[in-house]
Amino acid sequence: MKKWIYAFYALMAVLVSAVAYDRFVVGTGGSHDPVPLQAANVDMSDKESLQRGAKVFRDYCLSCHGLSSVRYNQLVKIGISEDDIKRQMITNNGKAGDLMQVASRREDAAKWFGVPPPDLSLVASARNPDWIYTYLISFYRDDERPTGWNNALFPNVGMPHALWTEEGIKVPKFVEKEEHGEKVKVIEGYDMQRAGLLEKPEDYQRMAHDVTNFLTWASEPDQLSRKYIGFGVLAFLLILFFLARQLSKNYWKDIH
Ligand code: HEC
Repeated sequence: MKKWIYAFYALMAVLVSAVAYDRFVVGTGGSHDPVPLQAANVDMSDKESLQRGAKVFRDYCLSCHGLSSVRYNQLVKIGISEDDIKRQMITNNGKAGDLMQVASRREDAAKWFGVPPPDLSLVASARNPDWIYTYLISFYRDDERPTGWNNALFPNVGMPHALWTEEGIKVPKFVEKEEHGEKVKVIEGYDMQRAGLLEKPEDYQRMAHDVTNFLTWASEPDQLSRKYIGFGVLAFLLILFFLARQLSKNYWKDIH
């Protein structure tokens, strides 16, 4: 009887369930999102995208949101040099070892927006990348909201559209639809009321992708190195497994 084959199956089963868990349990979004989620296609190995995302974050998000899981000096892991971190990334008088904290005071922010802007490291681990990406491309002009902005994925959100100068101003095209016997207004596409600095919608989508990429990295700044360690361990186990099999074959050879 070949015991090793059971061991091999067991190892495979563990691997498959780990991958499935990661994909389908950790990665699933809420099933009742008001608009379908768009694929963010995050790619932790795309350092240029991560760097662009970090800069967008510094320019447009850090005034309200902190990233408590990231210290400035950890940005070297996505390829920003120590010099550039000091000169470009640290906007207050902070030090390289400081956490990426917000400039404004939380209590003030809560007063302005009704809700304090949450720490985005936590958001990125609680939500999935597709959600964040879709959220960033779903802001539209709404004069009935106190901020002047609304969001198709997060209706009546407390956050203004932080990237509107880049994207421009979108107004929704509403259509009436029947849902469970009730007439509801749903958004079907947008008109551009005013152009932004970025020329094409794809340019803004790329920007939203870059920030999402960066935030996904920021939720676990060590994930790159951890993945490599993981692969190393797996490779080691596999080699060990074949060695043990050879050894056991040799050992039993003369007894059969
Ligand atoms: C002017 C302050 C402000 C700026 C600038 C800002 N946000 Fe926000 N953000 C908020 C507030 C307030 C909320 C909470 C909204 C709510 O719960 O209604 C929020 C919520 C969010 C959420 C959803 C959190 C959740 O899961 O409920 C995400 C994601 C987010 N912001 C990302 C960003 C990104 C990315 C940027 C930069 C491009 C940014 N924000 C810039 C104030 C801000």
